[in-house]
Amino acid sequence: MSDFITIFDTTLRDGEQSPGCSMDTEQKLEVAKALVELGVDVIEAGFPIASPGDFDAVQKIARKYGDQSTICGLARCRTEDIDRAWEALKDAQNVRIHIFLATSPIHRQFKLKMAEEEIIRKTVDMVRYTADRMSERSDITRPNVEFSPEDAARTELDFLCRVVESAIDAGATTVNIPDTVGYATPNHFYKVISYLKKNVPNIERAVLSTHCHNDLGLAVANSLAGVEAGARQIECTINGLGERAGNAALEEVVMALKTRQDYFGVDTRINTPKLCPISRLVSSTTGMRVQRNKAIVGQNAFAHEAGIHQHGMLQNRTTYEIMRPEDVGYTGQNMVLGKHSGRHAFRDHLKRIGYELTDEDFQRVFDDFIALCDRKKDVYDADIAALIDKQIHHGPETWKLVSFHTFGGTGTIPTATVELQHLDGKKVKDAAPGDGPVDALFRCLDRITHITPTLEDYSVRGVSSGTDALGEVTVEVEQQGRTYHGKGVSTDIIEASGLAYLQALNKIAAGLGAATIHPQHGV
Ligand code: KIV
Ligand code: ZN
Repeated sequence: MSDFITIFDTTLRDGEQSPGCSMDTEQKLEVAKALVELGVDVIEAGFPIASPGDFDAVQKIARKYGDQSTICGLARCRTEDIDRAWEALKDAQNVRIHIFLATSPIHRQFKLKMAEEEIIRKTVDMVRYTADRMSERSDITRPNVEFSPEDAARTELDFLCRVVESAIDAGATTVNIPDTVGYATPNHFYKVISYLKKNVPNIERAVLSTHCHNDLGLAVANSLAGVEAGARQIECTINGLGERAGNAALEEVVMALKTRQDYFGVDTRINTPKLCPISRLVSSTTGMRVQRNKAIVGQNAFAHEAGIHQHGMLQNRTTYEIMRPEDVGYTGQNMVLGKHSGRHAFRDHLKRIGYELTDEDFQRVFDDFIALCDRKKDVYDADIAALIDKQIHHGPETWKLVSFHTFGGTGTIPTATVELQHLDGKKVKDAAPGDGPVDALFRCLDRITHITPTLEDYSVRGVSSGTDALGEVTVEVEQQGRTYHGKGVSTDIIEASGLAYLQALNKIAAGLGAATIHPQHGV
């Protein structure tokens, strides 16, 4: 029997800390549901003290999914943080509190202004305090407490050993080793984990975990090196979401462990055909696009262009393919059923590519599919995935697009006329000129919503192939120092542009990304 690696997903906490990736409670619940279906062992649902919205989301996830996965909340080493986390999490059947305190010399000197002995004392006091709070529940006999020495990868090894030993003695059941700034390299990280295994006398009483950031592009490699050295939990995010260059990508660590089971000799409980669907969900929810050549879930991950590759593939797939696309739920360019195939066959097909929709959602997607079949000769799985994103994962909708019209061309002043409906029911119509039809449309949306962000990034791509393909537009806007993403899909790229921009405006209107306490900034 091989060991199991605990997959700890922090998309909803560390991932959501990424600028422009804030989600509202409904979206977080949707991602949590998908994480449960994916089979992650631990969901870090948020940082409850950050804001009432964070608290609410963690509490709802704990109540709804705490019997199917372990729900975790983050807290700094402060009693008020721990109390707030416990309040949000205490109804979850399976519950963990994750507390952290920086240990590296640079953090001790400049951020905490604390001496080594004070760090050890605080670690012990706060791990004990967390365990005591959790023990208030009579069914909890061994409180599930995780401790992280923040910036562990830049901490002196002997001091790190003392902190880890003290945390375990005080009751930590998991000790996580963060490479907070993405400084480690695989061999270095292997040595850190090996050193702890060898030099911390009580190490076998806790699970050792990795938490690697990707600043040098090494987060996945470092996490895998940690497993080789004896770590048995990996902290990661869907699509590698996270601040700066992000965290270790869940889909990459999981598929590396699965594909190279012969080498690592460990398993995970991840239902891998759900990897591409959850990647698309997180991308549409946050508006953060997945790069085309991204490992495992990128659009090109299983595309074989070169003739020599195609020849080999036709003889035997394993000549150039180390994983089967169906094992990660990759939809690629498979052509789906035509419009005469009917509802039943369409629903079966959705199930096969990883989507189980409620009757109401199914009806909306089916109607869109039929309409798309009229506009587009060949409909591909990628088109279907985009329709699902459009219908279901749109986020807060203060304003809805009712209709629009644009006018452009050489020798004319491009203009846009738009009608929007506010969620209170009132409809507003206006018109605006611009440098081109897209610019005119955005100016018109600004006028109606009275929100005027700066457009930082705009891109268009074809979801599948053909000039009639669905176009996907992503935008990044900045408003009062905060970043917001939006994504829109249509066979008409002007409409897709308007939908993407409106999604970003709706996030601003809903107050997403408003000021919250950042766990790692300040003391
Ligand atoms: O990167 C980090 O150090 C963290 C801690 C809060 C675990 O995210
Ligand atoms: Zn982190």
